[in-house]
Amino acid sequence: MHIVGTRPNFMKIAPIMAAVDAWNNRVRDERPAATPVLSQVLVHTGQHYDEKMSTVFFEELGLPKPDHYLGVGSGTHAEMTARVMLALEPVILAEQPAIVVVVGDVNSTLAAALVATKLGIPVVHVEAGLRSGDRAMPEELNRLVTDQVADLLFTTSRGADENLEAEGIPARRVMFVGNTMIDSLERHREAALRRPILADLDISPREYGVVTLHRPSNVDSVESLARLVSVLAQISRELPLIFPVHARTRRLLERHDLLTEAEADGRVALAEPLGYLDFLGLLAQAKLVLTDSGGIQEETTVLGVPCLTLRKNTERPVTIWEGTNRLVDPEDPAAIIDAVSGVLQAPRRSTPRRPELWDGRAGERIIEAIVRYLA
Ligand code: UD1
Repeated sequence: MHIVGTRPNFMKIAPIMAAVDAWNNRVRDERPAATPVLSQVLVHTGQHYDEKMSTVFFEELGLPKPDHYLGVGSGTHAEMTARVMLALEPVILAEQPAIVVVVGDVNSTLAAALVATKLGIPVVHVEAGLRSGDRAMPEELNRLVTDQVADLLFTTSRGADENLEAEGIPARRVMFVGNTMIDSLERHREAALRRPILADLDISPREYGVVTLHRPSNVDSVESLARLVSVLAQISRELPLIFPVHARTRRLLERHDLLTEAEADGRVALAEPLGYLDFLGLLAQAKLVLTDSGGIQEETTVLGVPCLTLRKNTERPVTIWEGTNRLVDPEDPAAIIDAVSGVLQAPRRSTPRRPELWDGRAGERIIEAIVRYLA
């Protein structure tokens, strides 16, 4: 049973579900009598529910319609976590899965891991072991607890294995498999580059920057949001910016009356959240990216697009050591402007780098390991 809830979960689960289908096809062709096929059930908690935050991703990633939709919606952390737990328990009891797969670090991940483990169902955590060291970040708490209760922990980097070891999680439960988000990127990259999104936005390759902001630490206080809006306006005098605005951020821009200011007289193009393919196409052809997202730090690494992460820490340091990512203090406008100038003056774009095992085959490795575990 796979459990997803938010936008970044969808691209992480799609390659795993595809790997189950591929495994079953192989079993049917090669050894029909010896090995049973795997059946899979998809549960969507409904933490993200909009057409633009959810539906379009199911369509573009080729995900099946969820077998169960829990419809939990938005709320406080406790409300969301509790609603997922209450709605999921009867589903797990009815379906009796052999194993439950959760991905990433969102509230739905934590809630699902707790419910399954308390019912005695083994929990698989995909993207285990990431640590920012920052407990003010809700995701960090979700990561810590999910990893403690998970039975099988799949990691995207060797650094994550070390984090888990330092927390006393036995090495036999941990396996470094690569990055399923990058599996999705590789699978869809050509289709993404064929999308007419640049023409639609009237921009040319390498002549624009992409901005995404949604972390509570950046957008929840009017001070930090206003400061970032004014930095973006400054940057946009040199480089046009495309800013697909996350639902949470739009709500706060509206509440604090910052929408007009954020547009910087038209030099910052505020857009609705984009679908997977349009966003990937936009990212791949950007001059630089300013973000506070986790996944985008990984995607820009593989795409070779310079990424300035507007955070004080990252749970994905491999994107700094081996990728194009750099942390920039979001409270220091001069540092942000400096970092952007540095990228704009660089003679060439960065060479795409590929951290170990980010090869598009993580989903396959996960399914092979799960089959071994179940056997
Ligand atoms: C969640 C995850 C975050 C992830 C992000 C990706 C947690 C703690 N946070 O943050 O790790 O990076 O998803 O997007 O799980 N909203 C809509 N439509 C939707 C969903 C949300 O309008 O389909 C609005 C609601 O006003 C909601 C707000 O966005 O209150 C925030 O949604 P929420 O799921 O709480 O957190 P995100 O900021 O999306």
